[in-house]
Amino acid sequence: MKKKTIFKTIAVAAVLVLSSNITFAQAGSWPVPKAAADLKNPEPNNSSTIKNGKVLYQSYCTPCHGKNGKGDGPAAASLHPKPADHTSAAVQAESDGTLFYKISEGHTGTAMPPFKAVLHPDQRWAVIDYIRTLARK
Ligand code: HEC
Repeated sequence: MKKKTIFKTIAVAAVLVLSSNITFAQAGSWPVPKAAADLKNPEPNNSSTIKNGKVLYQSYCTPCHGKNGKGDGPAAASLHPKPADHTSAAVQAESDGTLFYKISEGHTGTAMPPFKAVLHPDQRWAVIDYIRTLARK
């Protein structure tokens, strides 16, 4: 191997090691403050809220979480950790406040972006009402 090639290989390896460490360091736990988890959803849970939530979900969430919320959107294949499966019992068992916090803040070190500057609180709550309709029957 030429010296230049060796340096290139080391540089690439270093980037891989560093980026995987960042992913491992942050991806595991996703703590939600108790006060945030206890927040109640102020949106009326009716068909018009769910319809609004669905439109927002389809624009902002399906690229990663998939058309049916299973975590299998077009971008999912290249992501580690994978986007959450919103139909799963684990996600459905979380409080509305917990989902609201996670959607608002995102998860550093993963692909999950923060939506607090993108979606109005009413819109985030509406998306949660829509996510509730995705529960595996
Ligand atoms: C660019 C990809 C991407 C987009 C866009 C995205 N997510 Fe995520 N989402 C992720 C990933 C990756 C995770 C898993 C993070 C982890 O495991 O730490 C995640 C996790 C979540 C979780 C946590 C579920 C749990 O396990 O508690 C919720 C809730 C969520 N996303 C909601 C949304 C909503 C709602 C939208 C749209 C408004 C959205 N996401 C858009 C990638 C994305």
